[in-house]
Amino acid sequence: MGKLKRYERVYDQLQQLLLKSDDKEARMCTITALLHHKMDHFFWTGFYCLQNEKLIVRTYQGSIACMELQKDIGVCWASINSNKTIVVQDVEQFSGHISCDSRSKSEIVVPLHDKIGKIIGVLDVDSKELNSFDQLDAFWLEKIVSLI
Ligand code: SME
Repeated sequence: MGKLKRYERVYDQLQQLLLKSDDKEARMCTITALLHHKMDHFFWTGFYCLQNEKLIVRTYQGSIACMELQKDIGVCWASINSNKTIVVQDVEQFSGHISCDSRSKSEIVVPLHDKIGKIIGVLDVDSKELNSFDQLDAFWLEKIVSLI
């Protein structure tokens, strides 16, 4: 199945699953699990959230990740600071990239907002292949994250 069809299915499935709880953490867990198991190119899938100006790991699937990300360094902080989705085709070319697992080769980071539009964290997805993410991933992951 192509990536677009898969995102459409995942989105429909999430809309049904998320009817069951309005708890933010539970919704983040469900999104992480579904994406990780349905999207072939997702090697690490999870959230980092802001707490007291720190970016701390929350629910995730995949190999053991960094628990806290050094302030203003790396892709996740770049997404927080710019309030934009960031697609990295080759992590080695991204100055300051924080490597939690040397097998990660490309990455996408999508900002997460609260109900009044304030940035509260990011969804981070890593792939073991170079050039895994594009504007289609950005579009669908932003749409999915907005369900939280
Ligand atoms: N690569 C991220 C760190 C988190 S891991 O990819 C799970 C970054 O540079 O912020």
